[in-house]
Amino acid sequence: MKISKTKLNETLKFVQDISYDAGEILLKYQKKRQTLAIKDKGREGIASEADLKSEEFIISAIQEKFPKHYILSEENKSKGIKESQKAEYAWVIDPLDGTNNFVNGIPIFATSIALLEKGRPILGVVYNPSSGECFFASKGNGAYLIDFRINPLKKFHLDNKENKKEMRECIFSPAPVYEIEDRFERQLSTFRKNIIGARAVRRLGSAALELCYVANGNFDAYWEKNLKPWDVAAADIICRESGIKITEFSGNPFSPFKDSVIAAARPLHGRILGKIQK
Ligand code: IPD
Ligand code: CA
Ligand code: CA
Repeated sequence: MKISKTKLNETLKFVQDISYDAGEILLKYQKKRQTLAIKDKGREGIASEADLKSEEFIISAIQEKFPKHYILSEENKSKGIKESQKAEYAWVIDPLDGTNNFVNGIPIFATSIALLEKGRPILGVVYNPSSGECFFASKGNGAYLIDFRINPLKKFHLDNKENKKEMRECIFSPAPVYEIEDRFERQLSTFRKNIIGARAVRRLGSAALELCYVANGNFDAYWEKNLKPWDVAAADIICRESGIKITEFSGNPFSPFKDSVIAAARPLHGRILGKIQK
């Protein structure tokens, strides 16, 4: 069964609405961040009470509307990643991307919700409730930003097919952290090769937002390793629909089930890929 364009638009509107409501939950919990219960997940980072409340809300809203769809969500992995890749329709959710920022009072975090059809994202919404930036896209219909700070009624079309800037004009957002020790040196050398000569380097701490910032042209490139489907599924379709190139470190086409990502507009993407592969 193929989802019609009308249904896709309707679903997109539904996902935007639940993202806004989940964002309100996060903002409410961030006000009491000093007293939040926090779980240490070891190598998988941390999860706060806010992650769980946002997730509970998103999952129940989706289950009510789409009872037959598969749901994979970061803090509720009772269902597996492999199954979500095979399912006809699967929702892939990060109820709070950027938990470290969130618990430290840094207003850079987002909800990330994607709908996948047989493992490929067909719709995605990434919403930062602190800034009011809502990035969204659906397959074949382009990528957009609604920026509540500027005009909540206007959709900005993201169109970022080409980047011919010199290195000295570029702002990169690479993530050399979150690596186990023996691979850290290799990551650091990839990082070094690519940032030499760049105008600036920024690390936001939310993979979903960093990818959307490349789609929107705020950043010229982003690359990271060891990501999970919920970090990148929504941003993947936002990047594709904006026209930027998104691949694995090998140069193969990206999918949310791959663990490395390079996102940049052409031809800059090729230059970064070349240095990563050297
Ligand atoms: C993390 C953020 C971070 C990325 C990590 C992710 P979380 O997600 O996206 O930017 O570097 O790999 O795990 O734990 O805040 O949802
Ligand atoms: Ca995440
Ligand atoms: Ca998360």
